[in-house]
Amino acid sequence: MTSTLAPNPLRKGLSSSRITDPCSVVFFGASGDLTKRMLMPAMWNLRLNDILPENYAVVGFSRSKFSDDEFRELMRKGIEEFSRSGPPKDPLWNDFAKHISYVSGGFDDPAAYANLREALERNDREFGTAGNRLFYLSTPPSVFATIVEQLDAAGLGPRDNKTGWSRIIVEKPFGTDLESARALQAEVSKVFDEKLIYRIDHYLGKEPVQDIMALRFANIIFEPIWNRRYVDSVQITAAETVGVEGRGGYYDNAGALRDMIQNHVMNLLALVAMEPPVASDADSIRDEKYKVLRAVRPIDPIRVTLDSARGQYDAGSIGGKPVPGYREEPDVRPDSNTETYAAVKLLIDNWRWADVPFYLRSGKRLGHKNSEIAIRFRSLPHRLFGEAGDSLDNNVLVMKIQPEEGISLRFNAKVPGPKMHIRSVSMDFNYGTGFGVVSAPAYERLIGDAMRGDATLFTRWDAVETAWQIVMPILERWTETIDESFPNYSAGSQGPPSSDRMLAMDGREWRKI
Ligand code: BG6
Repeated sequence: MTSTLAPNPLRKGLSSSRITDPCSVVFFGASGDLTKRMLMPAMWNLRLNDILPENYAVVGFSRSKFSDDEFRELMRKGIEEFSRSGPPKDPLWNDFAKHISYVSGGFDDPAAYANLREALERNDREFGTAGNRLFYLSTPPSVFATIVEQLDAAGLGPRDNKTGWSRIIVEKPFGTDLESARALQAEVSKVFDEKLIYRIDHYLGKEPVQDIMALRFANIIFEPIWNRRYVDSVQITAAETVGVEGRGGYYDNAGALRDMIQNHVMNLLALVAMEPPVASDADSIRDEKYKVLRAVRPIDPIRVTLDSARGQYDAGSIGGKPVPGYREEPDVRPDSNTETYAAVKLLIDNWRWADVPFYLRSGKRLGHKNSEIAIRFRSLPHRLFGEAGDSLDNNVLVMKIQPEEGISLRFNAKVPGPKMHIRSVSMDFNYGTGFGVVSAPAYERLIGDAMRGDATLFTRWDAVETAWQIVMPILERWTETIDESFPNYSAGSQGPPSSDRMLAMDGREWRKI
């Protein structure tokens, strides 16, 4: 069946691998925030940038009642507010809107899935979506298993799809601990093979995160020093200034360890510490990520208080504006024991990294938004230059993820003048100025990849399971014991003192956020 669109002249000359397969994308939880803020703007920009094929369709599915037109209008407003390309313009918007439809119903209601099936078959006929279906689960994790079961019962699972493919994208968190993650995996894998499951971690779609591999494996100069002989320690930071942003109900049952460390930060650790993959395909890369996570030394439960630190923010000020404490946020328990800051020290027991500490931290309502990976190199074996009083700082290579995107190398140089004064300076690369382009939002890249069948930037089950195994001793300890010091850091600060103490015990300091 042909599309309603005329061939787009801008498509000419584009490599076909950039364009996604024809398909219908179904957003479960479509009335939620993520769909209007991120997912639909991503689809729209994929369309604008000619990455969508001509044969595409989008279906929203959620409990709220909307007509197709009401849903389209809601999405138009979302795009107007949140899309990087600004308000949608006709006639392209009109055409895009025709490709959007909506199904309302409970996630456990077979009749709603029958309607969904009809909508998908209609898309195949009208838009030529060829029986290809991408189901995106942007719902609370508690309904993931139900949706998968219902899809299968309605004949929408892969085994009943005789004409095209059926894939599923699952939002994080994948489980709330090791046991629930395993139970969820058992359910999802009854219907979808691992190759059809795309566990999304939007950090992997960020350009500077993808560049970690390029920096390491597309250059000759870094890899020889990327090991215990030259590296003193590694700090991975994901610091936010925002609070829980109306998500108190979810967050108070999650906390920073589950919300950020187990997934986003652990993926950064894997990328920075893994061995070179044998090839650049999805599984070769994911094999190495899994291997390095397996090499992380299990945290001895009696060392949890030494090798981790937790915090909860109190009232304070961010950018000169007063903000409330965590316990005053809506839907948060007034005596909450949930951490809004987590720091962890990990060791990797392999030849490359033995004895090199990896310090991970993430927190909300900190002084600045800053996500980065900093590799601190060892001290000089012998001091030759520098006047008394000059400090010869260790070299540091920083991969800046956000808000700045780039790479910065800190090294020592001679201060101009008659004396041999030495001072630390930095050499900076910035993506924006370097390439003259603004990075596309992560969701755009990731949805496009899933439509294309490229799972490289999605997390495989073995890595998810191992990441849960790594954090479980801390999670158990933090759940069992009340932290009487909470709230223990002010909004706008660098985090709790216990986190500084963790590094001080090793004779080190955190980089300033
Ligand atoms: C999400 C977390 O996965 O990542 C949020 O659930 C967090 O709590 C967000 O704010 C951070 O993403 P980004 O892209 O703003 O760093």
